[in-house]
Amino acid sequence: MKYLNLSEPRISKSEIKIVKEQLRKNNLAIGKNISKFESDLKKYLKINFVTLCSSGSNALITIMKMLDLNQNDEIIMPTLTFVAPVNACRLFNASPIFFDCDEYHNIDTEKVSEFIKKKTYFKNNVTINKKTKKRIKAVVLVHVWGNACDIEKIYKLCKERNIIIIEDASESLGTKYVSGKFKNKFTGTIGDISCLSFNANKIITAGSGGAIITNNKIFAKESKLYIDHYKIDPVKFIHANEGFNFRINNIQASIGMSQLKKIKIFIKKKKVIYKKYLKGLESNKKFYVNPRPSYADNNSWLTVLSSKKDIDTIRIIKSLIKNRINVRKPWLPNHLQKPFKKFQTYKIKKAQKVFKNSICVPTTIDLKNAQINKILKFLS
Ligand SMILES: Cc1ncc(COP(=O)(O)O)c(C=O)c1O
Repeated sequence: MKYLNLSEPRISKSEIKIVKEQLRKNNLAIGKNISKFESDLKKYLKINFVTLCSSGSNALITIMKMLDLNQNDEIIMPTLTFVAPVNACRLFNASPIFFDCDEYHNIDTEKVSEFIKKKTYFKNNVTINKKTKKRIKAVVLVHVWGNACDIEKIYKLCKERNIIIIEDASESLGTKYVSGKFKNKFTGTIGDISCLSFNANKIITAGSGGAIITNNKIFAKESKLYIDHYKIDPVKFIHANEGFNFRINNIQASIGMSQLKKIKIFIKKKKVIYKKYLKGLESNKKFYVNPRPSYADNNSWLTVLSSKKDIDTIRIIKSLIKNRINVRKPWLPNHLQKPFKKFQTYKIKKAQKVFKNSICVPTTIDLKNAQINKILKFLS
């Protein structure tokens, strides 16, 4: 029996057709679908610049490279997130400062605001951490599970303090704010620079792939160079800086382009699954569906459950996996991960509890009622 996975890609005839077309034309590495997918994303997100690249992780590395980080720089990060932004920051010897999560599992921007106001000072246009005397160069806001971060609480403060806002919208493509200052804006289009991921488990996929998105002309231009070994002259192969090979290929871009056309349908279907879990757990004594912020229209990428009391979630997870239902915990908070234990933390109380008490459940687009009912049985 096949594993029931958390979030599987949904590939159909249109992706097969477009890939076949490109293969027949021999357009593997380079082809016009790279720039087409970029312009489709620009139009969808209403953003000025998109640089496609080979993964969300590589988009983050490119972003960190452009910040010109060194050992005297620090970046405010959520502790509860996938490790990619932390690793990207560490590649350039900058230090993360880890923050707690809010009720939606996103970085607690109220605590970030409090930290900036109380624990840093502003001198010569830079924000300095009073404790370490290092510069706080950026904050990374990861919109986990598709939930939009409460960016409004820190946006103005970051602008005043010259702190760059990086959004990691890898999991939240299609999530839109519905109220407040950023009403009608998609996650990833508000900060200074953001990343997307088209990994196979995301709301749309390119097999593997990512994007750097921004309204900043300089970041846009530089990112295109960095992902191609900073080649400024394609004839003489002149490299004006150190860079990477983080290019996406035309086959991946073709798949992504075809998937983007269906994003509204995917989101609609994911919302149906979310509602089925909500209904199915209405009178459940152990679990509830973790809430979502009302200030945003969620892409419903992944449904996450929380336990009502301290129960052995690992035992439940093991029994689901034994029955070929692939569930998992959120990430072990980064401040507890071996390579990052030495870095500063600020008032982290909730993230460990979320790790202990939460379960991510299958949210694959075509999940059947019978499959959801089977999962629910293990949770009762
Ligand atoms: C929040 C977050 N950031 C970054 C990434 C990295 O993306 P990729 O797998 O495309 O490298 C992922 C996903 O895997 C993610 O969930």
